[in-house]
Amino acid sequence: MRKKVIAGNWKMNMLPNETIKFIDDFAPLVKDSEAEIILCVPYVDLFYALLNTQETNIKIGAQNMHYEEKGAYTGEISGRMLKSVGVEYVIIGHSERRQYFGETDEIVNKKLKAAFEHGLKPIVCVGENLEQREKGIAEDVITKQTELALEGLSKDEVKDTIIAYEPIWAIGTGKTATSEDANNAIKAIRNKVAKLYGKAVAEEVIILYGGSVKSSNAAELFSTSDIDGGLVGGASLKPEEFAKIVNYDKQ
Ligand code: PGA
Repeated sequence: MRKKVIAGNWKMNMLPNETIKFIDDFAPLVKDSEAEIILCVPYVDLFYALLNTQETNIKIGAQNMHYEEKGAYTGEISGRMLKSVGVEYVIIGHSERRQYFGETDEIVNKKLKAAFEHGLKPIVCVGENLEQREKGIAEDVITKQTELALEGLSKDEVKDTIIAYEPIWAIGTGKTATSEDANNAIKAIRNKVAKLYGKAVAEEVIILYGGSVKSSNAAELFSTSDIDGGLVGGASLKPEEFAKIVNYDKQ
């Protein structure tokens, strides 16, 4: 049985004082959850988030990293730096990074490899845009993105990668993929992993759905055969709402 993973992606939101308040309110609400709970916070909030989640069941992640370890890359943060302060997870290749910051499949692959080199657990995002969906090529797009992102990783590394399927048209729009569509897309990704790395790896790899997940649709999405949890943006900014998503099976 794969463990459920519920990750919040705060994007460019929340100040340190808001981070502290959020965790004070959120931690007691999710303390009995068996899911892996991850908060991916802005760099400036990492210290506060790590400190305030000590002795809780909440793990902390970053939202991006550079693939180089160090050097003349003004404004960038490396995997080594993240690891040194106690970060466990890192989101890689979010569609907003691909769209607004020119991240290619090749860069995503380099970052994924660098994350493993530094002992970070990557959450790598794939997803089609509306045009690709309307053309009927969504499955080709997401399976190709998956293949290119994972290229050159060992079977063990692939097993330890969290993949997040996030259709771009569903991110921040209030439009959610139906649970059936999302589950089918995730099945296609799992089949691709099986083809490339074997069935055992595919059975273990955790694949999340992301795109307008909220407390009212979490249970339906997360109860399907292949969706192992969610990567949650907007709804992860409110402690009560995000706790309801984490506790989707206890309502
Ligand atoms: P959303 O964002 O939940 O606000 O749609 C999800 C994401 O971008 O990870």
